[in-house]
Amino acid sequence: MKAQRRQLHLGLFLFGTGYHPAGWRLPEGRTDGAYDPQFLKETAQKLEKAHFDFFFLGDRLATSVDMQHLFPSQMTRLEPFTMLSYLAAATEKIGLIATVNTTYAEPYHIARMTASLDHLSKGRASWNVVTGSDTRAALNFSREKHWDNAKRYDYAEEFIEVVSGLWDTWEDESLPRDKAAGRFADPDRVHDLNHHGEHFSVAGPLNVARPVQGQLPLITAGTSARSQGLAAKYSDMVFTGTNVKETAQAFYREVKGRLKEHGRQPSDLKVLPGLVPVVGRTEEEARAKYNELNALVVTDFNLQPLSDKLGIDLTGYELDAPLPDLSASQTALHWAELARKANGREDLTVRDLFYFFTVTVRGHLLIVGSAGQVADVIEEWFEDEAADGFNVCPPYMPGGLDLFLELVVPELQRRGIFRTAYDGSTFRDHLGLAKPANRFALQLKG
Ligand SMILES: Cc1cc2nc3c(=O)[nH]c(=O)nc-3n(C[C@H](O)[C@H](O)[C@H](O)COP(=O)(O)O)c2cc1C
Repeated sequence: MKAQRRQLHLGLFLFGTGYHPAGWRLPEGRTDGAYDPQFLKETAQKLEKAHFDFFFLGDRLATSVDMQHLFPSQMTRLEPFTMLSYLAAATEKIGLIATVNTTYAEPYHIARMTASLDHLSKGRASWNVVTGSDTRAALNFSREKHWDNAKRYDYAEEFIEVVSGLWDTWEDESLPRDKAAGRFADPDRVHDLNHHGEHFSVAGPLNVARPVQGQLPLITAGTSARSQGLAAKYSDMVFTGTNVKETAQAFYREVKGRLKEHGRQPSDLKVLPGLVPVVGRTEEEARAKYNELNALVVTDFNLQPLSDKLGIDLTGYELDAPLPDLSASQTALHWAELARKANGREDLTVRDLFYFFTVTVRGHLLIVGSAGQVADVIEEWFEDEAADGFNVCPPYMPGGLDLFLELVVPELQRRGIFRTAYDGSTFRDHLGLAKPANRFALQLKG
């Protein structure tokens, strides 16, 4: 029998109005998608029809109206557990990833919420553990300042230990609900946690039965050394954001290389960069859409942030001037090369580079092209071990997603690198992870 090729993991990173800052201004772009239950339901159902691994919802704990021109989707949005509980009822297979910021939460609360979502979805819930990069959150939680990186990650690590322990406080067989014997619960299979650590004292047990998956898959998405350490120890999947294949490969090697310190295998952690696919039925159609989107960006064309990024001062240039000599900066040469690929031509102007920088400011991989061209880049990153899959960020909704599902997914399936059916029904199944034994049950048997 022919061995099956390694398979991609694909998920939707939901930006209600699309990843592109002007996605909502297209004539066909939805402006209120992430608030409309019908739209959300249809989106999750079409992802499931395409056999996507997951639907992912980011979250931040602060906002301001000045985000409207760059991050309109993230300025206001629904709370993740509320939205995902609703979607759990409208779907059957797709993984549902909720972001939870540990810095401003209590583990007992989060253990309840994650376990509840896992029951409601029959084993499809997952937690994206973030410590928060928006320092303004402190002011919304009665604190004067956001903790530094070290404290945030110390706290997060203990937080994960407590949540993970609470999930195990009820064994799978702890609720026999035996009518004849009058035995609803088995006290021998219910355990206190009695955690006493640096930040938390939690007695347990949890007041929700063990999650269907036992332990929910954990996701992390930080870039700092501490975040990578957290990923190596606990994560099942790590999200990244880079448009440089060599950087993605270096991260892939580095983070997977650290797994053995924790007795884990490289395949235990999936690495998923973000992908922004501007897809067309032809290459020309895709480029026309990219240009149409860019022309709708609301901006004062401040060239300072771009100049800072490139290390070359562009502030004195006319927007429609050809790009000057950028050879003094490798970064600038690289960004210009990426922008040339996106535009599909060599003779770029300062304006073209400005747009490319503005729309990819979060650093995800933007590809403009036909389905074959987009699939080529996906396959190349996948085969060259820069990625185990992608966190797909459609540039506008719903058309940007629809074209990806209609044109790119079948192409990936034809190439034998993406599933044509789900093998199981839980998110752990999609990731190829077995259900872990309960730590307390092991103690009893040992
Ligand atoms: C794809 C992706 C998604 C992310 N989603 C969130 C999010 O929803 N909320 C959040 O606070 N941070 C999010 N982050 C940011 C990271 O969690 C982290 O705070 C940031 O990368 C800085 O990492 P560091 O503090 O480890 O340096 C995301 C990062 C990436 C790459």
